[in-house]
Amino acid sequence: MTTAAIRPFSLCASALALFGLLQGSAQAQTITLDVPYVPTPQPVVARMLEMADVGPDDYVIDLGSGDGRIAISAVKDRGAKAAYGIDLNPLRVEEAEANARQAGVAGKVVFEQGDLFEKDIADANVLTMYLLNTVNMRLRPVILETLKPGTRVVSHAFSMGDWEPDRSDIVEGARIYLWVVPAKIAGSWMIEREGERFHVDLEQRFQEISGTTEHQERLRGRLQGTELRFEVDGQLYVGQVEGDRIEPISAEGAVTDWRARRS
Ligand SMILES: C[S@@+](CC[C@H](N)C(=O)[O-])C[C@H]1O[C@@H](n2cnc3c(N)ncnc32)[C@H](O)[C@@H]1O
Repeated sequence: MTTAAIRPFSLCASALALFGLLQGSAQAQTITLDVPYVPTPQPVVARMLEMADVGPDDYVIDLGSGDGRIAISAVKDRGAKAAYGIDLNPLRVEEAEANARQAGVAGKVVFEQGDLFEKDIADANVLTMYLLNTVNMRLRPVILETLKPGTRVVSHAFSMGDWEPDRSDIVEGARIYLWVVPAKIAGSWMIEREGERFHVDLEQRFQEISGTTEHQERLRGRLQGTELRFEVDGQLYVGQVEGDRIEPISAEGAVTDWRARRS
């Protein structure tokens, strides 16, 4: 067996040998991991899934799934309808599949050997990660572009730069971050309130919204997924973004008779 050049997080010789066998090759091939294997402690897994509010409607994807504990818990402990894990290391995938069988959830949890950067994640309702800041930052544009607004993204230990989390918590000394993928609402909108109309141009930076109305009033607000809250002229507006429309949501102290559409 020829061993590969040493790279950060290169797999150990036995893993390389196994991968060589799997490839039907006498020579082991190099797999360079972007992140070393370190399992998330079970109480941290439980809190990650709780913060993401995982439930029966959710399809959970864990990028870099290790021994499968997050995907397995999502189905077994939180009742997710299905979960998927991808890991570059075939040994981890074998281990995860065995763990899923043992947990009695093999029919609902799929593990695959592959590169997380090549995985289409568009179908996830919940994305979980225990990777690195640098890896999260590579994934960030994919997360923002391909995941549906409202998808929850939970990361153990690592942030996403200047995309502030919607929530964070610390469990057993481990920081957990939660982001909700924001709807895209930058651009020009017409707001109708009690029969009167005014234009507003909105700018968006992740969940933060700002803008100016045609009457030069400043607007500031925030999205959580598809739920938008903003204030203009001392009035609170709360609404649900539905594509090119925003419909009011009743909330204490909020304006009731209004709606908006893209103009
Ligand atoms: C820190 S561990 C996290 C394991 C598991 N998600 C958990 O929280 O317990 C990171 C995992 O990512 C895998 N990994 C590293 N680079 C990868 C890549 N490019 N594609 C897929 N998996 C990768 C490693 O093999 C390792 O199992």
